[in-house]
Amino acid sequence: MDASNIKMTPTVKANSNIALIKYWGKWDEARKLPYNSSLSITLDNLYTQTSVGIIDSDVDVFYFNGEKAEPAEIRKISAYLDEVRAKYGKTEHLQIVSNNFVPTAAGFASSACGYAALAKAVTLAYELEIADRELSALARMGSVSAARSVYGDFVTLEQRAEYAQPFADASEYAVIAIVLTGKKKKILSREAMRSTVETSPYYGAWVENTQVEFELMKQAIIRGDFTQVGELAEGNCLKMHATTLGAKPPFTYFNGDTLQAMDVVRTLRAQGTECYFTIDAGPNVKVLCQSGQAEQVKAKLAEYFTEQNLVLCYAGSGYTVLDK
Ligand code: PMV
Repeated sequence: MDASNIKMTPTVKANSNIALIKYWGKWDEARKLPYNSSLSITLDNLYTQTSVGIIDSDVDVFYFNGEKAEPAEIRKISAYLDEVRAKYGKTEHLQIVSNNFVPTAAGFASSACGYAALAKAVTLAYELEIADRELSALARMGSVSAARSVYGDFVTLEQRAEYAQPFADASEYAVIAIVLTGKKKKILSREAMRSTVETSPYYGAWVENTQVEFELMKQAIIRGDFTQVGELAEGNCLKMHATTLGAKPPFTYFNGDTLQAMDVVRTLRAQGTECYFTIDAGPNVKVLCQSGQAEQVKAKLAEYFTEQNLVLCYAGSGYTVLDK
């Protein structure tokens, strides 16, 4: 195969997102439908760029960050592409060239931006003309949180829904990611969720309570009530992590550095710097603040963490197709 003959699509850029009301657990494993509603902010400074080309081969080829991806990664992507091909009656295999733009060497959730960018690039390669709603559902088949990265600003994904929906402007908000470790997470979120859904006695309460918090969060955003948004986000994150402590066997994503970073955020708040933490399926901590105060909050955090481990993000846009 002569690589120069492959006609690649334009590059698709998709931003990552951070959930303030977390998705945690599948209602339908096979169809990848979420048990509970979630709400996120799309982030402008953590993203993936992907382009795809049809190849004359019986296997898919995947280059990630300039190198041929690991066999396990290729299998995962190919399984996803098989689902897409089956859905749209396509057979051709693909070459995927994908780069992650995360300012530091961090193991930050790249599945959201990764699958959102891939889903769009694949539709370009196969010349499928689908609406963003359907694209969101397609991205969800790769990773549920990816459904939300199709859109910018505040985005919702309702309980058991197939696609995410844009919700509101988020230009008043910023998120500072504290990179505590770049190592891969020890328990994949897919397995962690399954175990929690099946074994944690707290899971039912998690879903019931999150549905209430989801509604309160939407109202707080519309009111422009930053304090309420922050308090709800912090509380929802802690409840998600509490479900893992109730699982059998019990587990947690927190480590000592996570607890320390949570404490720093509480200390800053007690000193009058309003900010709140949220944590996904890993030890790293993200700090929510108002965009007008983001530089000051970052400077305060820099008293505790090295500058290069702090990644300031503002609200980002939905996916974009870049010119060649
Ligand atoms: O979509 P996944 O499988 O990467 O799971 C994401 C789960 C959380 O990041 C913990 C929460 C969320 O809503 O993004």
